[in-house]
Amino acid sequence: MTADPWTLGIIGGTGMLGYAIAHAILKARTIPPDRLWISNRSGRADGFDDHPDITLTTNNQDLAQGCDVILLSVPPAMADRAVRQLFLSAGTMMANAQPTPAEHVQQMIDYAGTTAAGLEDMRRSTIAQDIAKGLDAAIARTRTIGSS
Ligand SMILES: NC(=O)c1ccc[n+]([C@@H]2O[C@H](COP(=O)([O-])OP(=O)(O)OC[C@H]3O[C@@H](n4cnc5c(N)ncnc54)[C@H](OP(=O)(O)O)[C@@H]3O)[C@@H](O)[C@H]2O)c1
Repeated sequence: MTADPWTLGIIGGTGMLGYAIAHAILKARTIPPDRLWISNRSGRADGFDDHPDITLTTNNQDLAQGCDVILLSVPPAMADRAVRQLFLSAGTMMANAQPTPAEHVQQMIDYAGTTAAGLEDMRRSTIAQDIAKGLDAAIARTRTIGSS
């Protein structure tokens, strides 16, 4: 994300919680209506008549591509599927895409958005050493696995 106005997408933004969040954001003018996307399956947009500049879609993919920040406000079973899909997509991207994982990480850091802030913080933490310790433990186990 840059200093430019950012775009928010609420998947399930017409549900009880998503609707309340969307209206609170519009009321507080956190972002202008033309920077708000809302998706659901039915295409119903009850209660948003006063905000014709909002983008309403039944296509979550379009929302994901059009928004800087995505808020998931769908029933738990759907959220579970979405998170699993995220891991599947990440794995597919790493398996098929041209840039290496390290290059992807660098691209996200260079973009200097929310992901970069999280990545930079993790880089300052001991996470790399902790993962290396876990891998060392697994390697040590492979060396003893036939003997115990
Ligand atoms: N309500 C609360 O007070 C509250 C409090 C804390 C946490 N939560 C959590 O917040 C989440 C939403 O709760 P809610 O009460 O707002 O539920 P809800 O009223 O049932 O709203 C669900 C929304 O998700 C949409 N939706 C369902 N499947 C979708 C899909 N595949 N793609 C896009 N949109 C989809 C629905 O619209 P369509 O049917 O048209 O698709 C609807 O707009 C839940 O996980 C709930 O546990 C709710």
